[in-house]
Amino acid sequence: MSTTKRSASSKGHNRCMMSRRDFLLYSGAATAVSIIPLTLFAGTSSETEVDARVVGYQRKKIAQLSNLKNHEPVYFQYPDDGPNSVAMLVKADIECGGGIGTTKDVIAFSMTCTHQGGPLTGAYKAQGEHRIVGQCPFHLSTFDLRRHGIMVSGQAFESLPQVLLELDGDDIYAVGVMGLIFGRVENLIDVEVS
Ligand code: FES
Repeated sequence: MSTTKRSASSKGHNRCMMSRRDFLLYSGAATAVSIIPLTLFAGTSSETEVDARVVGYQRKKIAQLSNLKNHEPVYFQYPDDGPNSVAMLVKADIECGGGIGTTKDVIAFSMTCTHQGGPLTGAYKAQGEHRIVGQCPFHLSTFDLRRHGIMVSGQAFESLPQVLLELDGDDIYAVGVMGLIFGRVENLIDVEVS
């Protein structure tokens, strides 16, 4: 068995708008692993049927919508318990790109700065119509949460990875990550493809 690390997130790293279909594309499978039949070298003498193991982001319940209070972040780990996996869920009380809920104001982001990994926990701010994370304590980068975490000032040049969310009744699930988490070559670790 060969071991290969994979992520679908890097495809859309700098996208500013996203549809539900895109969410699903980024997030991969709804379950962690699925097996699909695959034909290799179709139409040639080497044609082979194999079972392909498809690995996507886990669908992880992280909160209940009814328990959220405006501007009170909830911290969780995603997409795994590996390095730099701390993320923040917040009800921003204003529509945000990628937001869920009736007013599309519930969003989630990585809490590791994309510049050199500065910790952003505790750096959420609501200022007028702006919803930001920053300044990073290391080199003062600030990220705009209403626009998918784009960097608005400071040393970083990559957007803050946005955790993709789905709402199922009152339950909020993390289903993927848009953007590469700092310190990783792929968002998903310990991923195997047979
Ligand atoms: S590590 Fe955050 S701005 Fe440098």
